[in-house]
Amino acid sequence: MRAETALKGRSFINALDLSPEEYEALFRLAEEIRHRPGDFAEACKGKLLATLFFEPSTRTRLSFEAAMLRLGGQVLSVADPQTSSVAKGESLADTIRTVAGYADLIVIRHPKEGAAQLAARYSPVPVINGGDGAREHPTQTLTDLYTIRTLKGRLSHLTVAFCGDLRYGRTVHSLLRALCRYPGIRFFLISPEELRLPEPLREELQAQGIAYHEMEQMEEALPQADVLYMTRVQKERFFNEEDYLRLRDFYVLTPERLQLLRGDALVMHPLPRVTEIAYAVDSDPRAVYFQQARLGMYARMALIASLLGVV
Ligand code: NCD
Repeated sequence: MRAETALKGRSFINALDLSPEEYEALFRLAEEIRHRPGDFAEACKGKLLATLFFEPSTRTRLSFEAAMLRLGGQVLSVADPQTSSVAKGESLADTIRTVAGYADLIVIRHPKEGAAQLAARYSPVPVINGGDGAREHPTQTLTDLYTIRTLKGRLSHLTVAFCGDLRYGRTVHSLLRALCRYPGIRFFLISPEELRLPEPLREELQAQGIAYHEMEQMEEALPQADVLYMTRVQKERFFNEEDYLRLRDFYVLTPERLQLLRGDALVMHPLPRVTEIAYAVDSDPRAVYFQQARLGMYARMALIASLLGVV
């Protein structure tokens, strides 16, 4: 039995739902798919994926849909909750039980923390969390780890600098937790005071004895970072437009600042980018965010195939 078949029938709600060995099995499968896509072109023939997105998305929804279509499966999609029965007041539990009767696998994105967990509780088919509020975004973590492993060749002994909205950035929360399980990991947490990493997460780091250093300026961290993980200030989680505008341009990675970064470092971003990375940075070989988005599709192909048990 291939290691990834142990994932058959499971849901993926939190980054820590998979062990490092299970991630590794997915990375290996993603590599096989990336190098020999033709061998997997019909792996999901006859299977249906439903994507239920109650928040805006480009990459996550389209990369899941592209992943399923490239595996020969088909896709049903709710991209705008205003056009679904949710607008009539249907509960999430009822929506999920209905959709699970149509599809073999469900991806859900929802503004409420814990929504994906609730969906998984009601669903007889596997549920993937495509982002629940400010809490977690585990398939972005799968993407991010796969990108680092592919481009740096390792996931241990890394200094990772997270920069921007560490308070509401769910991709940060999931990736940070997952990275803590690899040896020799060290973090720089760069944010304005208002957007610091939430206290419970800082406590998790402390409890595990993880080395981390919080700071407001990025200059000190840049020369030491193996990975610089930039994030967007999460406008939709702010109650006040004025605070958002004040914090939005707090960090801008410019070509001048990039000079402080090591030659072999990676600049990553889950995207969408707003103002935090200047367009002039895009042509630098260390700027890997579009590559990261592409690798995410292969990682999601490996995940879908494994949860459906078709490999
Ligand atoms: C992220 C998200 O939705 O949390 N986007 C994504 O899925 N790639 C990051 C963001 O929206 O800033």
